[in-house]
Amino acid sequence: MLEDWLAPKAAALESRGLTRRLRARAADEDLIDLAGNDYLGLARDPRVIEAAAEAVRVWGTGSTASRLVTGTTELHEQLESALAAYVGQESGLVFSSGYLANLGVVTALGGPGTLLISDEHIHASLVDACRLSRSRVEIFPHNDVDTVEKLLAERNEPHAVVMTESVFSVLSDEAPLTALAATAAAHDAVLLVDEAHGLGVTGNGHGSVHALGLAGLDHVIVTMTLSKAMASQGGVVLGPQVLRNHLINRSRPFIYDTGLNPPACAAALAALQILQAEPDRPMRIHTATNRLAEATGVPPAAGPVVSIPMPGPHEAVAAADLCLENGVRVGSFRPPSTPDGLSRLRLTAHAGLSATDLERAGAVIVDAIGQVS
Ligand SMILES: Cc1ncc(COP(=O)(O)O)c(C=O)c1O
Repeated sequence: MLEDWLAPKAAALESRGLTRRLRARAADEDLIDLAGNDYLGLARDPRVIEAAAEAVRVWGTGSTASRLVTGTTELHEQLESALAAYVGQESGLVFSSGYLANLGVVTALGGPGTLLISDEHIHASLVDACRLSRSRVEIFPHNDVDTVEKLLAERNEPHAVVMTESVFSVLSDEAPLTALAATAAAHDAVLLVDEAHGLGVTGNGHGSVHALGLAGLDHVIVTMTLSKAMASQGGVVLGPQVLRNHLINRSRPFIYDTGLNPPACAAALAALQILQAEPDRPMRIHTATNRLAEATGVPPAAGPVVSIPMPGPHEAVAAADLCLENGVRVGSFRPPSTPDGLSRLRLTAHAGLSATDLERAGAVIVDAIGQVS
């Protein structure tokens, strides 16, 4: 029965070059990795590894239950305080992924009395959060503050949340956060900023909300993943204490989910401490991004991602495969994962790349694009 149901769907995807495939990664591979999101190059740092291993020895491998039952350890509380202080927000609450942090905060604020206003390039986790929220949802053209203003002014709902990313995940461009925060404040609305690609990268690592002086405002909420610059797993919602208390009581992805596991907490905490002790790491990401952009002929990006448009999905996959054969792993993004329907090569820069790596990667990528285009 499933064969009749799903096989035609699989065939349709295949004919359009949109089939997704899993490819196992070897532990000892010798590659230049421009596809992972380990922006600060800390996922294999011995200090991060040791912190995670020590947490396993002390706390075991899992949290054992929801944070509200037995799943809260001192590591969770230390991590929440450290992240909040680093980003300049009053408090934080960690979730077991960035995806769940977004679902958790939006659904807890959503409902019939809340209008959700979402940038059209927003990450899938926020799209899904809107769908789950039972709110009216309006989508605004990318970075268009005037439309946000109009939607806020015309609403009937008492509450509204404007949602954006500080640095967008595919195009790596920035949101007009200062204007969005002012517009939201003028209309008694909340601004939610997903800093998945800002933490550890923009604002000398503290993220864009902090850099723009918007941290700590009582209508600004920040969400972050711990799976990228923090070299771990998990997510966090950062904002006023009253929000944290509300999430603990009303956020289903927090209440009904087993707490973030202790080694993930400890790894993220160790990564954050290294970032604070070695504040030049974010600058190394920007240097790498600029070199990759220059080598591949695309404009420099605000964030850690270099996004190269390709003629189509087949070419994107073929170019990524050629790069891999030549020792460079890059991502290929195809619809529906791209906001504008264009297929792309997606290169992520990280602080661990040497000048030689960057030179070699640039040459391999340019050659691969030339071969498939
Ligand atoms: C902008 C953005 N938000 C949220 C997430 C989800 O985070 P996680 O992987 O921790 O679930 C991601 C990517 O993974 C992302 O790019």
